[in-house]
Amino acid sequence: MKKDVLTLWDLEPEEIMQLIERAMVFDKNNTSGVLYRPLEGKTLGIIFEKPSTRTRVSFEVAMIQLGGGVTFLSAKETQMIRNEPIADTARVLSRYLDGIVIRTYSQELLEELALNASIPVINGLTDTYHPCQILSDLQTILEKKGTLTGLKIAWVGDGNNVAHSWINAAAILGLHLVLATPEGYEPNQDILQKAIDHGKGTISLLSDPFEAVEDADVVYTDVWASMGQESEHEARKKIFQPYQVNGNLVTKAKEDVLIMHCLPAHREEEITNEVLEGPRSVVWDQAENKLHMHKAILERLMIEQSDE
Ligand code: CP
Ligand code: NVA
Repeated sequence: MKKDVLTLWDLEPEEIMQLIERAMVFDKNNTSGVLYRPLEGKTLGIIFEKPSTRTRVSFEVAMIQLGGGVTFLSAKETQMIRNEPIADTARVLSRYLDGIVIRTYSQELLEELALNASIPVINGLTDTYHPCQILSDLQTILEKKGTLTGLKIAWVGDGNNVAHSWINAAAILGLHLVLATPEGYEPNQDILQKAIDHGKGTISLLSDPFEAVEDADVVYTDVWASMGQESEHEARKKIFQPYQVNGNLVTKAKEDVLIMHCLPAHREEEITNEVLEGPRSVVWDQAENKLHMHKAILERLMIEQSDE
């Protein structure tokens, strides 16, 4: 049966750890120039309704380096823009492609696509989740810290799609996650409650960024206005100012803290240039690991599943 990655809940804890291990092997093999082309003859469709640099390019390069082909579809240049039902799109594309990565607004649209497609569907970001981002972030943390458990991970800023996927990861893997968000910008209550009810890990929501960051091993932030929220950007700048990840805030964390950001960053807004470019920042390794992790995901969904 085909397997999708629509949220991190689609993966068992062991599967997440296996993906991280494989991504680390891909990282090592990339450096030593090992050729591995298991996806020869397969084609990945990448359908994006929102802009992307990292996710699009890393999935494209991952697919090409694994021997496969890619076709990129800007959603507004497909019949989706003229309201062709997503179920019809899914059934037609399943006749041509071997897998789909989609970046779209609505998680429901993604789910409908996956339901009607006979090929694996991967969430490349929706308004609600960004699961693949967190998979490569976990790889980065494991590489740098040697473990995922026992670490305090502090999320500072908007309770957005990336935060939601962090909440899922904390619940599935049993991590210690503390979020600090301004009032009115908390993560979705249902997502948070489901994670807490799962009973693994500790997930707490605060409003004080200093308390969240205290003795943290990882400090993670993201833009204050996500794609689709551009009209709120100016208003949000004022509300989120106390949540800026700057030198003062970071001194409250552990000395060997990892500073993380999924990028793109708005310097001097959610993070200062000094911190982003500082010695504790791992954002470039984070971005690189998207390539290695996306290879692991494509291998898992496009080979192993089709052989079962
Ligand atoms: N982090 C991330 O998803 O970046 P892009 O928007 O450039 O894909
Ligand atoms: N929260 C951001 C993440 C970008 C990778 C957005 O959705 O725009």
